[in-house]
Amino acid sequence: MSSKTAFAFGAGFRSLTQETESPLPLPVRGALPAWLTGTLLRTGPSKFEVGERTYNHWFDGLAMLHRFAFGDGQVTYSSCFLQSNAFTAAMETGKISYGEFATDPCRTLFGRVAAIFDPKLTANCNVNVSDFGGEIVALTETTLPMRFAPDTLETLGVFGYAPPLAGQVSNAHPHYDVARKRHYSYMVAFGMESRYLLFSIGDDGAQAQVAELPVDRPAYMHSFAMSENYLALVEFPLTVSALELKFSGKPFIRNYRWQPERGLKFTVVEKNSGRTVATALGEAAFAFHHVNAFEDGGDLVIDLIAYENAEIIDALYLAKLRANTPLDATGRLVRYRVPLVGGPVARETLASVALELPRINYKAHAGKPYRYVWGTGIEVKGDFLDSILKVDIETGTVARWYEPGLYPGEPVFVPAPSAQAEDEGVLLSVVLDVVKDRSFLLVLDARTLEEKARAEAPHAIPFHFHGNYFATIPGETSR
Ligand SMILES: [Fe+2]
Repeated sequence: MSSKTAFAFGAGFRSLTQETESPLPLPVRGALPAWLTGTLLRTGPSKFEVGERTYNHWFDGLAMLHRFAFGDGQVTYSSCFLQSNAFTAAMETGKISYGEFATDPCRTLFGRVAAIFDPKLTANCNVNVSDFGGEIVALTETTLPMRFAPDTLETLGVFGYAPPLAGQVSNAHPHYDVARKRHYSYMVAFGMESRYLLFSIGDDGAQAQVAELPVDRPAYMHSFAMSENYLALVEFPLTVSALELKFSGKPFIRNYRWQPERGLKFTVVEKNSGRTVATALGEAAFAFHHVNAFEDGGDLVIDLIAYENAEIIDALYLAKLRANTPLDATGRLVRYRVPLVGGPVARETLASVALELPRINYKAHAGKPYRYVWGTGIEVKGDFLDSILKVDIETGTVARWYEPGLYPGEPVFVPAPSAQAEDEGVLLSVVLDVVKDRSFLLVLDARTLEEKARAEAPHAIPFHFHGNYFATIPGETSR
């Protein structure tokens, strides 16, 4: 460990403006599994400068869609900027025209009213890709998902929520319930009386409100929990008042205040009835990512990547990242046990390693008991995410993939056809080689973390967040 050093990871935060419109065959080293014939669709910030200005935060950059299409032992790559309102206005005016996570538009355009409020809500969907109601959508943390064509990456327009679903803020980590054939998510409606709106979208496109929960100061929540029968919000004590958000004149996230005395508030809602079946309090913590949740006897078990506080948000400002500032804040895999009949919440650290961008065998284990978590780790203290980890929750063991100078992104688990074991399949991760200044798609055996193949992209791809593998494209054949 002592001989390892961090590289200049700031290279992962440089803008990429080159698009690859036609699918480009990538040279493959190693062998791709013959059964890997689907498509990996990802999104992420790719352009951080508009005119004279630079966005403030990693989460702000203009979204580019990335597509890796597999077949016949080959893989092609294509990419395209998402033609969102924020992107097209930036291109037309040469100015940052919509408010993002930590950047406000040019004041002369919109005055003091916060950019998060309509009609200036951004559709810069740079966080995740999902399939709502049979359509592929890119997502960000507003209520404007963007539809796009999974083959050409052409932007098709805003995904419309039907009344009574109306809010400003949402999350980019919807859950999918295989048994019910529905996605679940939530949005926040800010107002004199702010509300969380939990909702579902069926594979047939039908939308339904599950529950409406009044909230005094909405929390910043990047994701939420789902088990077989329940949805659970974990409100971190990073909260905002609607009035401050609207009139402070500060960028979105800077209106949220860390108030650890509020603790951690769990609200468990039954999917079928919309009824709140349990609320509970825990000690203050912060998280971006839930990992999984499941019912165990009379408890709801909720696993997430917990931080002591919300300082990680400040660590991800672009100026710091581009200067290779060592990252101090690290998340840990933590398990909460919420008694559904009331009582204290128990907390347990499942693995004492830094972990982020967690993935599981979602298809077989979402909302159910599970054993394995894959994610990115930090092998060199203070480094950016520089390794891929596999955590065995049952034994507490951690396996690693690490090569100096390589910075892997989120490892997406793809199960092998007819897989019997939970970890039978591969991981797909877009890795930046900061020495060669090139990215490649890495394919690891999910069980052993041994490399199966890598396919080099024509350029460096900036660090980004999330995506999903689609064995088949919704609408083309049944799921
Ligand atoms: Fe995320």
